[in-house]
Order: sequence, then structure tokens, then C-alpha cells
Amino acid sequence: MNLKMLTIAIASQKGGVGKTCTCVNLGSGLQQQKIKVVLVDMDAQGSATYALGLVPGKQPGFDRWLEGEDVIRTDTAVPLIPGGTDTAYVEWDSPEILRKAISKLDCDLVLLDCPPSLVPATVAALVVADRVLVPVLADPLVLVGLAQVLDTLKDVNPDVPVDVLRSRYKPALNMTAEADSVLVSDNRFNLLRISIPENVAIAESAGHGQSIFEYASKSKGASAFKALAGEVIKEWGLNKRGRK
Ligand SMILES: Nc1ncnc2c1ncn2[C@@H]1O[C@H](COP(=O)(O)OP(=O)(O)OP(=O)(O)O)[C@@H](O)[C@H]1O
Ligand SMILES: [Mg+2]
Repeated sequence: MNLKMLTIAIASQKGGVGKTCTCVNLGSGLQQQKIKVVLVDMDAQGSATYALGLVPGKQPGFDRWLEGEDVIRTDTAVPLIPGGTDTAYVEWDSPEILRKAISKLDCDLVLLDCPPSLVPATVAALVVADRVLVPVLADPLVLVGLAQVLDTLKDVNPDVPVDVLRSRYKPALNMTAEADSVLVSDNRFNLLRISIPENVAIAESAGHGQSIFEYASKSKGASAFKALAGEVIKEWGLNKRGRK
């Protein structure tokens, strides 16, 4: 086991905020910086699996991995524990089954792509995470999904550091400036400096089963995820952790 391994839950109870695109493209950006990443698709929708070019449910995945089977796919842009509908039938007696499965991975960083609701899989991810990354949209409901995650964390993992990522960001909108001022003045979390712009290439790349770096390496989305990788390497101390 790699004692220096870091586990990040990418979570928000609000759907469609960019959790999966962040997992895939931040994961890919970090790999390019020589960080060894494994992405765990914990969502029964299997969006991360699809975005990495596989058909969800067509290969052994998350549920079998929790039972101890070696299901990792390394032929994808980011090594992946695949998801699919079977994930919805996992019996979560305790989040410890997730911690145990993670402890057997050989990597620097584990990214947990959570489902959009507070199902037992999400709670398990929040319990075992060393940090939680919450993508938010700058709309009037910006704080709803975020507040729900922060509330849940108070109960299940009160001291875990939380990073907030402005996702699908549209700087020209007044609404964005208002949401920004709310986020900047809240000290319950670390607001990441880099934001991810609304960029059609990001949506298209997921539809093509490719990371943004494979699909459109010169896009605004690719530059943003590269910059975000640089920021989190420092913020999460990945440059100092070293391998086992
Ligand atoms: N920066 C972006 N620019 C444009 N489209 C984006 C961006 N990020 C995500 N999308 C698109 O928005 C939709 C939602 O993104 P994504 O699936 O990453 O969100 P999610 O939070 O994981 O959703 P869910 O809650 O369903 O799991 C997808 O169609 C995706 O392709
Ligand atoms: Mg998702």
C-alpha cells in the first residue's frame, strides 16, 4: 500500500455541475504532471466510464472491486474502476469496504466520482476522503448543493478540508459576480483560484469518450484543466508527498 496516497471525493448533491468532467480532465491533467491517478466511478449512471470511452456495465466494475476483484482498466486516458447500474445494488454495510478497496490501489491520488444525491455511496466517499472537491455553478442556487455537502460533512467527516471549484464558469454574467462574492467571503472552504469555463469542447470530449487533452488540446477547457492540475498539485501537497 502506498502510505502517501491521497483520496479526493468529487461531490455535490446538485446534479450536472461538472463532477464527472472534473474527475476525467483533472485526472488526465494530473497524469500529465506525472501524478499516478486512479478514477473510481461510483455513480450508477456510469458517466465517467462512458467519458473514458467504455460502455458502463459491460465490464466488471465498482461492485466487484468492493468484493476484492481486480477490475481496474489501464487502457483508458485515466486508469479507471468502471461504473454502471450494478453500483446501485451495492450493500453498504459500512464505508470501510470502500476504504479497504482503496488501500489496495497503487497510485498517488484516488478521485472518487460521486453520484449527484446523498445515497450511501456518496456518504461512504465523504467518510473515507482526505479532501472533498465540490464543483459549483454560479447560479442563484449556487450554495444549495454546496451547503448540503458541508452539512453532511459536519456529521460524517467534520475536519476534512473542502475545495470549491467554479465550474462551467461564465465571467460575463452579473449572476457570476454575485455568486463569486458569496464564495470569496465564505471561510468554510478553500475557493480554488482557477475556474473551469463553460466550453463546448469539454462536453463534446466526454461524448467522444476522450479527455479534453486528447479531444481538443488547444481549447480553453484544456488550458483551464492544465492550470487547475498545477494549482491542486501545490494545494494538496502532491509535489511533496513522493511515492512509497
Ligand atoms: N465546462 C463545461 N463546459 C461545457 N459543458 C460542460 C462543462 N462541464 C460539464 N459539461 C457538460 O455538462 C453536463 C454535466 O456535466 P457532468 O456530467 O460532468 O456533471 P456531473 O456533476 O457529474 O453530473 P451528474 O450530477 O449527473 O453526475 C455534461 O453534459 C457535460 O458534458
Ligand atoms: Mg457525474
